Amino acid sequence: MIRMHLNENPLVKQRYCRYPDPQYGELRSLLRKQFGLKHTEVLIGNGSTEIITAIFLWAHLNQKKIVFPWPSYILYQELEYLFKTDVTRISFGLDEWDIEKIADAVPENGLLILCNPNNPTGRYLPREAIRRLISKLPVSATVLLDEAYIEYVDVENEEHGLTDADFIQKCIVVRTFSKFYGLAGWRIGYALLSSDLFKTLRPYLQLWNVSAPALEIATSCVLDQKRFLEGKQKTLHLRDYLSGVLKKTGFSVLPSQTNFLCFTHPNIDMWIETWKNEGYLINLLLPFVDSELNSYVRLSIEEDDIMEKFLQCILKER
Ligand SMILES: Cc1ncc(COP(=O)(O)O)c(C=O)c1O
Repeated sequence: MIRMHLNENPLVKQRYCRYPDPQYGELRSLLRKQFGLKHTEVLIGNGSTEIITAIFLWAHLNQKKIVFPWPSYILYQELEYLFKTDVTRISFGLDEWDIEKIADAVPENGLLILCNPNNPTGRYLPREAIRRLISKLPVSATVLLDEAYIEYVDVENEEHGLTDADFIQKCIVVRTFSKFYGLAGWRIGYALLSSDLFKTLRPYLQLWNVSAPALEIATSCVLDQKRFLEGKQKTLHLRDYLSGVLKKTGFSVLPSQTNFLCFTHPNIDMWIETWKNEGYLINLLLPFVDSELNSYVRLSIEEDDIMEKFLQCILKER
C-alpha cells in the first residue's frame, strides 16, 4: 500500500521522510513476545520520563492521591511541584523501606509510585516484598513501578522485575532504553500495562511521540540481548571493584543493584574538590536536603579507562 494521505515529502530522498507507524507495532509486539505477554499492552514513550509525566498528570486530573517513598527519583518531586498535586512522601532517609508504612499511606483510588531499584540509593526491593506490598493496597489503588535499572539486578533466584500478566493487571511497569541499552540520547522508554490503562493513558502522549530512528534502534537492541548482557556484566564488575576500593579508602557506600554507586565520606567536600581539579564532575545530592543523603554523591559507571583513571586518582589522594 502506498501511503498518500499524510502530507509526507518523499521527493527529496531523505531517509526518514515518512512518519513512523503510529501504532509502533513492531517494537510493541517484540516486547510482548520478550515478556511472554499475549494480552498485555505496551505503551511506548519519549523516554520513560514522558510516560511517568503522563501518569502523574492523569492521577492529578483524576484527584488521585499520589504516594511515594522518599528519597527517590527527583522527577517525582519536580512533577509534584509542577502540577501542585496532592502527594504524600514517606521519608525513610537511609533506612530500608517499611512495606507496612508505605501500604498504610495509600488511600482508595490512590497512586503509589515505587522506584525499584531506587534512584539515588541503588537499593532494591525483592519481587516477593513488592507482591506483599501490593496485596495490602486498596483494590482501587494503582501502582507505578519505575524499573529504569531493573536489568542490572543481580540477586540469586530473582528474575528481572515482575512481568507476569496477573501482576500487570494491577501495576504499570515502566522501563527505559536509556540505561541497560545505553540509548539515553534517543529518548525512548515503555510501559507494560493493562489494556484499560493503555486506552486511558495513550491520549496523554503525543500521537507521534517517538521518532522512527529511535524505534528502529530500540528494536534492534531488543533483538540483540547477548551484547547487552555482556555490557551488564562489565558494569557490575566495575561497580563492585570501585565499591571495594571506596570502602577501603574510608567511604561509606550504599549497596547498589544499579549502574551507579551512592556514597559519602567524612571529608566529602574535599574529595569533590579534588575530583573537580582532576576533571571529574561529581555533585552532592543536594535536592535531598531533608535527609542524610545530602552529604552523599552518586556516580555512574563509565568506560573502563575512565574508571581506571578515577580509581588511580582516589588511591593517589588517600
Ligand atoms: C528511576 C528513573 N526513572 C526514569 C528515568 C528517566 O529515564 P528516561 O531516559 O527513559 O526518560 C530515570 C533517569 O535517570 C531514572 O533514574
